[in-house]
Amino acid sequence: MKEQLENIYNSAKSDIEKAQTISDIDEIRLKYLSRKGEFNAIKKGLKDLSDEDKRTVGAFANKITQELEEMLRAKHEAFYQKELNEKLKHDRIDITLSGKFIPQGKVHPLTSTTEEIVSIFQNLGFSVVSSELSPEVETEYYNFDMLNVPKDHPARDVQDTFYVKGMDGVVLRSQTSGAQIHAMENQKPPIKVISPGRVYRNENINARKNNFFHQIEGLYIDKGITFGDLKGVLNEFIRIYFGASRPTRFRSSFFPFTEPSAELDVQCIMCHGDGCRICGGTGWLEILGCGMVDVNVLKGVGIDPEVYSGFAFGMGVERLAMLKYAIDDIRLFFNNDKRFLEQF
Ligand code: DAH
Repeated sequence: MKEQLENIYNSAKSDIEKAQTISDIDEIRLKYLSRKGEFNAIKKGLKDLSDEDKRTVGAFANKITQELEEMLRAKHEAFYQKELNEKLKHDRIDITLSGKFIPQGKVHPLTSTTEEIVSIFQNLGFSVVSSELSPEVETEYYNFDMLNVPKDHPARDVQDTFYVKGMDGVVLRSQTSGAQIHAMENQKPPIKVISPGRVYRNENINARKNNFFHQIEGLYIDKGITFGDLKGVLNEFIRIYFGASRPTRFRSSFFPFTEPSAELDVQCIMCHGDGCRICGGTGWLEILGCGMVDVNVLKGVGIDPEVYSGFAFGMGVERLAMLKYAIDDIRLFFNNDKRFLEQF
């Protein structure tokens, strides 16, 4: 038995000498020294020996397995160091190299302006309607009919509104006001909502006008809402958005879906003397239309005008951004010139 052990020892030793890598070492350990390895197979025979032989052969077996363990450990360590050194030679990190520039995207000024306006109204108790209640491809029914816009109103003309080809009565919405109707159809008063989104108009494009732009619609319906509430909310919005020092004015106006109606102007800051191409030299720029929701509109959605009243407004996001950052051409928002966008 001792001879068997010696043979295994010698073969293990020669394997170890021939080993080249850490995984060779692991294999040898498995082959000879693991629970199912060759030494254990022999050691099982120890129990059949005399007590005397058990002691001497047992001691011998222990001695040679320990020796092998030690050889394996030493080789493993040596290979480990060698492999590590090789790796370090190739993977050297040069800490003197300058870092890589990773360009960072910026939030588009219209997105950040919209977010800012939305958050102001949220703080005033308005919530944002879900996007299904504010579709960009809309029916004439929501974009015009339910808003009390007469069948022969010029806004319905193809010169002003884009109609979807081959689909009768379907338009790219020309205003976010249709969201008011969706909101009132889906919710009982009190209703206090805003709805931001894109609108489309068949315009000649210039510094003031684009054929699509963005609006934020607002609607507040409850018992006893008055024009005073309208002015209070919008003045508070202006004060927070522009700061207290920017002159504004309410001007009476007309919209089919509000009565009375008004527009809110903010003093133009793009004027450099006469002939300002943004405000046309008037010194004022209209940023929103508003008014008390027309009785006909309330009746149309089944809200009793004897019980409820409310106000609505629709503001232009581009105008508000232009007036805050002194941007004198609406087209800058849409032609994706990085030199412009990087300033925000
Ligand atoms: N929809 C109007 C427009 O695009 C703006 C407007 C005026 C919205 C009065 C309103 C409103 O909600 O009450 O010019």
